[in-house]
Amino acid sequence: MKKAMAVFVAPIILMGILLAGCGREQAMTQGTVIGIIGAMDEEVATLKEAAKITKTTKIAEMEFCEGKLGNNRVVIVQCGMGKVNAGICAHTLINDFGCTKIVNTGVAGSLDNRLDIGDIVVSVDAVQHDFDVKPIGFQKGEIPYTGLYAFPADGEMRAMAMEAAGKAAPDIHAYEGRVCSGDQFVTTEEQKQTITSNFGGMCCEMEGAAIAQACYLNNTPFVVIRAISDKSDGSQSMEFETFKAAAAANCTKIVEYMASRL
Ligand code: ADE
Repeated sequence: MKKAMAVFVAPIILMGILLAGCGREQAMTQGTVIGIIGAMDEEVATLKEAAKITKTTKIAEMEFCEGKLGNNRVVIVQCGMGKVNAGICAHTLINDFGCTKIVNTGVAGSLDNRLDIGDIVVSVDAVQHDFDVKPIGFQKGEIPYTGLYAFPADGEMRAMAMEAAGKAAPDIHAYEGRVCSGDQFVTTEEQKQTITSNFGGMCCEMEGAAIAQACYLNNTPFVVIRAISDKSDGSQSMEFETFKAAAAANCTKIVEYMASRL
């Protein structure tokens, strides 16, 4: 009796395993799928409208919204603030939704006096400015045993982002530079000094380098595109609230243009 049951049940289990495998395989072979991550609602709301979302899936308290920009499939998600949220989000986009490229968009504080509110920064690379294992012999920001502290953005995606900035937002200055990420909102000249003396850097925010590390670990190209919402110097609590919507709108135009053409 038991044997007969096993003969009946085993093929069903096997079929289930094969189908689950096929789902992932299919996700992997559907051409370009762009994962777009923003931390705040303002950073993803307009993009979601443009992408005409057809399916939404909730994982780890994040809503993964599938749609299309141009001919490309996109998955747009608001990850929440901070590096843990951002890393989980990028890993999920790549492994559960088959994303082949990741774009992180949103606002940032400036670290470079050349930048004005509203200007755009496209990442050359991204570092975690609050990562510090120096006491046991590693460089500040270095991820132990990888030999890496700055994760380089993809060359083609960087070029596309700069081109998109020129075409979609020609009145706004766009710069290429280092993005410095940490689990802190930077509010003082002293914090700014610490970050820039350790890493240089053009802007600071709270997610980009975690997304960069998740992409590195999953062998997936990425770029971070940020609009400056504040000067990270103490005047920003007012600046941030005043300018974040306008700054996020600048980024949205660029990401929409870029994602339609990648
Ligand atoms: N995002 C926007 N402005 C920021 C700042 N000053 N520090 C960290 N993240 C930010």
